[in-house]
Amino acid sequence: MPDDPRDERSVLIREVRQRLESLRRAGIDWFPTPLAAAPVSRRTAQHVVVAAAEPETPAAVAATPAPTITTAPSPPPASKQAPASSLFDAADFDTPLVPPDERLAQLAALAQEVAACERCPILASTRTQTVFGSGPPTARLMFVGEAPGADEDRLGLPFVGRAGMLLTDMITKGMGLRRDEVYIANVLKSRPPENRTPEASEVAHCLPFLERQIAIIRPQFLCLLGRVAATALLDTMLPLGRLRGRWHRYRGIPTIVTYHPSYLLRSPEEKKKAWEDLQLLMQAMGLKPPPRKKS
Ligand code: URA
Repeated sequence: MPDDPRDERSVLIREVRQRLESLRRAGIDWFPTPLAAAPVSRRTAQHVVVAAAEPETPAAVAATPAPTITTAPSPPPASKQAPASSLFDAADFDTPLVPPDERLAQLAALAQEVAACERCPILASTRTQTVFGSGPPTARLMFVGEAPGADEDRLGLPFVGRAGMLLTDMITKGMGLRRDEVYIANVLKSRPPENRTPEASEVAHCLPFLERQIAIIRPQFLCLLGRVAATALLDTMLPLGRLRGRWHRYRGIPTIVTYHPSYLLRSPEEKKKAWEDLQLLMQAMGLKPPPRKKS
């Protein structure tokens, strides 16, 4: 780094511009400002537009102010803040970014591999079908649950039973998103008999499929529902109570952990904490809760 702070600034500006340009080439033309906490309308979330790069001369670089990242007048306590540098941290994937128009085909090919998998003989012989996931391949937000239950096994779709109804409410009534705007998947793609907790070997067999699924979709945010998803993707043994309420990263993706909707159905008193977790996510995504309907 140069000694002169003005040189340091122009190097920084150049690096920011290069990073924005490479994101623009990758098809990303905007991103949320994670520190923004001021009220904003849902669709006009504070963001920086990644403008096409102008010809770069040293003078132009030095004269160009860095993109404005709006900070809130009174940000939440540090531990609650979204990772401030999400744009500038290189995503930590072994595979290149998949162009948006190739993602559906890649996901379909992966889903076929999943459907043919028999690495867990018990699951393969008891399932009706595999449950791969649902949602747009360019979703900004991806939820990851544990494993399909009876309804999911029957219909071939994730979170369509009672827990799914609660998850849908969290997404729509809580976050103001449509369910079909987010991607939903599970760690296990097959139902464990009697909905038992997945065995460690089953998680180990199925996790590479989920990791490839995430690598194709490359969501901007992840929300891990429950202990199985959190321990599988964050490689931690900490209890859920210690993981929720703060930010993590999975391969560079800002990640929130919260209670599984099935647990919330059994322990409704914990819904308040799950709501706090969703609010962290919404703040970072620039979302406002939808107006409450008068009953
Ligand atoms: N529980 C999960 O973890 N996933 C589902 O798809 C349904 C219930």
